[in-house]
Amino acid sequence: MINIKDLHKSYGNTTVLDGLNLEVKQGEILVILGRSGVGKSVLLKHIIGLEKPDSGSVEIDGVDISNLDFPDLYEPIRNMGMLFQGAALFDSMNIEANTGFYLQHNKDPILKRKMTKKEIKERVMAALSMVGLEGSENKMPSSLSGGMKKRAALARLIAYRPKILLYDEPTTGLDPITSNQINELIVKTQNELNGTSIIVTHDIHSAWYIADRLALHRDGKIIYSNTPEEFIKIDDHDIAYLKKTLTNFERGR
Ligand SMILES: Nc1ncnc2c1ncn2[C@@H]1O[C@H](COP(=O)(O)OP(=O)(O)O)[C@@H](O)[C@H]1O
Ligand SMILES: [Mg+2]
Repeated sequence: MINIKDLHKSYGNTTVLDGLNLEVKQGEILVILGRSGVGKSVLLKHIIGLEKPDSGSVEIDGVDISNLDFPDLYEPIRNMGMLFQGAALFDSMNIEANTGFYLQHNKDPILKRKMTKKEIKERVMAALSMVGLEGSENKMPSSLSGGMKKRAALARLIAYRPKILLYDEPTTGLDPITSNQINELIVKTQNELNGTSIIVTHDIHSAWYIADRLALHRDGKIIYSNTPEEFIKIDDHDIAYLKKTLTNFERGR
């Protein structure tokens, strides 16, 4: 489904991706762990085609998108959605308009046409209800708490119903209870949309709860990936540290 081969990317003298390989299977939740600054956000941007590699390839359902620009990029990524680091809501639009934004501006991937106002409203209300923001549709982003903003951003993603969902640090900066709610929503969304999800985070608790497979991003590569149970047994200083901080072994899938 997603096949990344020998990806290289440098900014000036900084090598960020250094021969990165990764395969993502249909239907899985893959969580990529890694310290701040290793290039997790850069990797996600390559997967959705917003950044171009210096070399290597990113195949989405057999199509190499690594050299495609808009409008050629639209078709291969039309089933993808991304939750950006920070909520990235539009400050001048209320929550309803924010949530319906992609639907208003893109064809629905399943209907293959733009949705009517009524259809958008229904989709938006269902998504807001799923994230527990029913009744907040007329509020402006500035009046929401950090956790509500993340949930609104999640509603915008859910409303679009992508098949491939990319999440950049969905729980960073949130309190533990709100983090748990977001994690549950990620799992619920995956199940409802029958999707494939890639989540990057440095939060081992969230990773453990949601992942079918865990991966470690370091030195410009994905150096390990395995089931959570096997991953945590790997003899490595970073993984030993993650293991030490993991206190709750409950899994969400
Ligand atoms: N557009 C860019 N221009 C220059 N440097 C960048 C750009 N995007 C990312 N970087 C650099 O790439 C490295 C990895 O960044 P990032 O992917 O944001 O890390 P992470 O998400 O793992 O915390 C950092 O050193 C960052 O400064
Ligand atoms: Mg990042």
